[in-house]
Amino acid sequence: MNIILSNADPVKLKTACLVVPVASQKKLTGCTAELDAAASGAIRDILKQGDLENKLGASVMLQQLPGIAAKRVLLLSCGDKAVDAQGFDKLADAMAKALDNPAIKDAASCMTEVDVTDRNPDWKARSLSQALVANGYRFDLHKSSKAEKAHLTKLTIHNGDRKLNKAMETGIARGIAIANGMQTARDLGNMAPNVCTPTYLAKHARDLKKTHKSLKVSVLNEAQMEKLNMGALLSVSAGSEEPATLISMEYKGGKPGQKPVVLVGKGITFDTGGISIKPSAGMDEMKFDMCGAASVFGVMRSVAELGLPINVVGVVAAAENMPGGKATKPGDIVTSMSGKTVEILNTDAEGRLVLCDALTYISKYKPDVVIDIATLTGAVIIALGHHTTGMMSNTDELADELYQAGADAGDRCWRLPIWQDYQNQLASNFADLPNIGGRAAGSITAGCFLSRFAEDYKWAHLDIAGVAWKQGGAKGATGRPVPLLMEFILKRC
Ligand code: BES
Ligand code: MN
Ligand code: ZN
Repeated sequence: MNIILSNADPVKLKTACLVVPVASQKKLTGCTAELDAAASGAIRDILKQGDLENKLGASVMLQQLPGIAAKRVLLLSCGDKAVDAQGFDKLADAMAKALDNPAIKDAASCMTEVDVTDRNPDWKARSLSQALVANGYRFDLHKSSKAEKAHLTKLTIHNGDRKLNKAMETGIARGIAIANGMQTARDLGNMAPNVCTPTYLAKHARDLKKTHKSLKVSVLNEAQMEKLNMGALLSVSAGSEEPATLISMEYKGGKPGQKPVVLVGKGITFDTGGISIKPSAGMDEMKFDMCGAASVFGVMRSVAELGLPINVVGVVAAAENMPGGKATKPGDIVTSMSGKTVEILNTDAEGRLVLCDALTYISKYKPDVVIDIATLTGAVIIALGHHTTGMMSNTDELADELYQAGADAGDRCWRLPIWQDYQNQLASNFADLPNIGGRAAGSITAGCFLSRFAEDYKWAHLDIAGVAWKQGGAKGATGRPVPLLMEFILKRC
């Protein structure tokens, strides 16, 4: 997608479709008013007829208005309330959907004229760009007849103030890079689990390094993990023919010596539950159990594309959870890399087992903060539904930073407590701790388990089981929480 800025008069813009906002049906302003004047009041007449619903995101496509160079004009309603950031994101999405038309190969947009509470023009340029690229997403890797490519290939964003060009260009670059990161996350998530294995994820990391020389990639195999005493991680892949991999991607854009942001992704490429096997209905969805890892790959891509001045390390703990003759059994006790012993009471609580060793391993990067991202518990869907990521942290400042990043990126998370009362649910008669803490507060006790391996640094955990993919007709990975994590990183740059 080619997205450019233009300071030209919108009346004279030659394009297949010009998108303009209607903030008030009674009084037109800005570009919309200029177009209306050039077209001798044609827009006002159409509004008077009642063709445009007074609802945020409603639109009407006008053809061949007199006096206007654009072939079409799309009127996009802002509704009758002040537009906030979430509202503008909705408008951007509505614009992208309305422009998805085989006849429209290029378009221009005056939507940055909309007043948005607490948001400047570069943010608006970013929102429009991100929505446009994200809406062009297709996944046809496994189909023999390929989906049609997105028709739209070029968008011109109108900017009435040249002084803002530079900031808005940055906004556009960020929007495109975030959408590209989401694309990576969605592609990996949507891939069939017989293709997207731990070995495949390691190859993906090496491929990412080929495109982005700024990345350093290393992959540990099972023998190397054994040497590091990663008994918890290896207990998960024990029942599978697919060997586990531990993938590290280092991006150094910050000052030498600057402590990195470390992201750790759960990369269970398929979760059968192991010996504590899951029911078969809907089990195919457990291919999405690597969406935490996928978001780490997505963020590494976005960060490298933008060349951000910050140090980021992405680590992916990849394994397949299968039953088998060598599989871990309920009651087995394993020793983690930290030295802590874990009684595995349920082999379906495997995410925390791969993550705990990864959390110990990454201390070698001397992290500033560590964020793990995981489709960790079904319970988080009961708590927060499919709208919001569950967040837990051992540091209030980090929790606040993540909350704000989610709110600003339109990719929200909400904090859950990991108080001592919950920690007490993790009690084992036979080992240092069990891998489950009972039915009550299942997402929280999972977070508590992880916190025991993250005591030496500032840490947060994002449980994305509810937000990482959609079910039903629109089944597929969403690319979340790439926008949240990118907002977090951009704010730190
Ligand atoms: N990958 C699942 C979590 C999950 C379940 C995500 C459903 C999305 C939808 C995880 O490995 C798991 O199986 N968790 C168990 C934990 C339990 C055994 C304590 C769960 O949530 O049931
Ligand atoms: Mn599981
Ligand atoms: Zn799982």
